[in-house]
Amino acid sequence: MTARPSATDATASPPTPDGVPLFGNGLAFAQNPVDALERWATLGDVVRLDIPGQEMYLVTGPTLIEQVLVDDHESFTISPAQRETFSGIEDHAVTTTTGERWERLRKALRPAFTRDAMARYADRMVETTRTYVRAWDDGDQIDLYREMRQLTVTVLADALLDVDIRGREAVVMNAADALVDRANFRRPGQLLPDWVPTPTDRRFKRTVTELDAFVEDILTERRGTDRGEDLCSVLLDAHDAGDLSLAEVRENVVAMLLAGHDSPSVALTHIWRVLDEHPDHRATLAEEAQTVAESDRPASELLSELEHTRHVVAETLRLYPPTLGVTRQATEPVTLGGYDLPAGAQCLLPQWPVHRDDRFWDDPTAFDPTRWERATDRPEYAYFPFSGGPRNCIGRHFAKQELALVVATILASVELAVSVDGPLTFTPSLQLRPEPAIEATVTR
Ligand code: HEM
Repeated sequence: MTARPSATDATASPPTPDGVPLFGNGLAFAQNPVDALERWATLGDVVRLDIPGQEMYLVTGPTLIEQVLVDDHESFTISPAQRETFSGIEDHAVTTTTGERWERLRKALRPAFTRDAMARYADRMVETTRTYVRAWDDGDQIDLYREMRQLTVTVLADALLDVDIRGREAVVMNAADALVDRANFRRPGQLLPDWVPTPTDRRFKRTVTELDAFVEDILTERRGTDRGEDLCSVLLDAHDAGDLSLAEVRENVVAMLLAGHDSPSVALTHIWRVLDEHPDHRATLAEEAQTVAESDRPASELLSELEHTRHVVAETLRLYPPTLGVTRQATEPVTLGGYDLPAGAQCLLPQWPVHRDDRFWDDPTAFDPTRWERATDRPEYAYFPFSGGPRNCIGRHFAKQELALVVATILASVELAVSVDGPLTFTPSLQLRPEPAIEATVTR
């Protein structure tokens, strides 16, 4: 167990990693984000980062993470980085709003994320995955991450929105790429003032216009008689009741399409990669998958039987969290881990180093799904792939159910032999997207 320095005097400044002139710590982060986060986290539970023009802190102690997200959540708001990244596309969505408007939007979305709603989505998740996988032939070489993205966009559209998106998935994927690129630390245009147009800005505008038009079409169709219990219907009903504007309806559908497919696809890509490295676990999962495939009970009832699959999902989200972290900005002076942080301080709560911290995890870098079978006194926020507190991921139950059902459905009919082209590195952006090409060979 490694002890970490902590503050003894609130006027002291948290430790700061060595940086380079002009770029401070930004360069190390751009080069290898997860390596930088791991090294910096060893300096203390609160670390001040030298990022030019920003008052930025890295917070990696679970109790402090809980303080920011839960106990003192009213002293924090979303970060300027989050607001800037989504501006022009989700200004009226739950992802970027605050205060009364955010509360109203969260409340309007809730009926689409209840336990009953999840049970309704389960069979669609399985059916969509089955149909998708049928197109893979024995011996096919697939671009694994791309296929997983296409699959998760389709599952999300089918299950959550009741929209057949086949053939139009690229509209969503292109906009997501533009967003991730906008926040990419390695992008040369990052250092230019906002008013200088860059190719990234132009691509962003183009893809956003296409996605907006696509969602507008869906809503126009649905505005007529064809209402059900899906998310589009829930939001349009809220509009009819005078609770949401049309811009709010449209931008929340956009937000779901983007937030709801990217992280699950990253997670699925890692799941296939780690299962390929651990054939013993893959065999156990394949057995569970067969039992489920042979049953004629509703998919929502089968989840409890996918115990090892759920543990593999949890363990993969621990070792390879799809998001860089949760970001917040202090709205007033706060004391965190014994340090006084000024109003306006930005906090980055990164999952990667916390999920691998040897103070809370035995053999932290080992892939061991069985650790989820054992009771533990680990602090709650040593694991937070979906964040926590009132602003946590609204799609967390959808995502966990989707990951388990998709894995079981695929394993019931095919095996994937995975190859990664080079060391596993990640895009330095809001999503920790794998950078090397990841291919899989299909065996039916
Ligand atoms: C493995 C899959 C997923 C992971 C790891 C993940 C993770 C996260 C994280 C870390 C946040 C930030 C919360 C915060 O700022 O405190 C978030 C927010 C959000 N997620 Fe997810 N997510 C996943 C899947 C989904 C899915 C499937 C949906 C929709 C169906 C979704 C919709 C959202 C939305 C709308 C927000 C913003 C919530 C708000 O600000 O109130 N996510 N997610």
